[in-house]
Amino acid sequence: MIKNAQTERVKKAANFIKKQTDVRPIIGIILGSGLGNFAENIENKRTIPYSKIPYFVNTTVKGHTGRLVIGKISNLPIAVMQGRFHYYEGHSMGVVTFPVRVLKQLGIKCLFVTNAAGGINPKFKTGDFMIIKDHINLMGTNPLLNQAQNGFIDSEFEPFINMTDAYDKQYISLGEKTASKSGIRAKTGVLAAIQGPIYETPAEIKMLRRLGADAVCMSAIPEVIMARALNLKVFGISLITNKAGVHLCHENVVKESEKNIERLGRLLTGMIERIKKRGSIY
Ligand code: HPA
Repeated sequence: MIKNAQTERVKKAANFIKKQTDVRPIIGIILGSGLGNFAENIENKRTIPYSKIPYFVNTTVKGHTGRLVIGKISNLPIAVMQGRFHYYEGHSMGVVTFPVRVLKQLGIKCLFVTNAAGGINPKFKTGDFMIIKDHINLMGTNPLLNQAQNGFIDSEFEPFINMTDAYDKQYISLGEKTASKSGIRAKTGVLAAIQGPIYETPAEIKMLRRLGADAVCMSAIPEVIMARALNLKVFGISLITNKAGVHLCHENVVKESEKNIERLGRLLTGMIERIKKRGSIY
């Protein structure tokens, strides 16, 4: 049996985390720029800095705390990543998506991804949420490309994964219902991801609109691809922190996220409560 280095790393990281807590998460949540405070809602939590977890790298981006929080919401065991790793920081796709593999190894069945995004759809306002129904990957790469470089062995991942149903329809409708019951404005739309870290030119925004994107970001999509390769169900939600192309800087993106974190918290907590009431994870 060939031992794959990356798989061994995934197991080591997961075993380390398992030793820190008895809670075995069934939902994983990745929080984007400025959205980390959602973890305040978690009960019986155990907080583990990324710097302590074997093979996790440190987050270098402002607004990304760099901690894994494991605990419960409505008695459902969850794992929350406060901050993610970005391709534009110079990490390989293998590194960017390593935490998704670790969360799967911990036992999660579904992944919720959140991120800050620029609004491309003219109807979107700053502070709106967009439930992701589909995506356009413009990063020029993906985590299943160059499997050897990304640390997989042939038998471990089927590279030709189906992406026609990447965003789970039941979770989309659960998100829509929960948002409307909680009085939170949420549209659905298509998310595009660019490499970053530079923002878009006016011509690029025009192009993105013509391609059918409603919002644009620099993250999330690699994690979604990895989650689908691992057969995890995916729910994705973007906070529109700005209209794409208006003069902006990362500080303002983080500030806008922080302003809206309470509403995102209510939405995600509401979804988790409904999942709990339903008694199964879809
Ligand atoms: N473009 C790309 N990524 C982003 C933006 C944007 O306008 N806002 C927040 N993340």
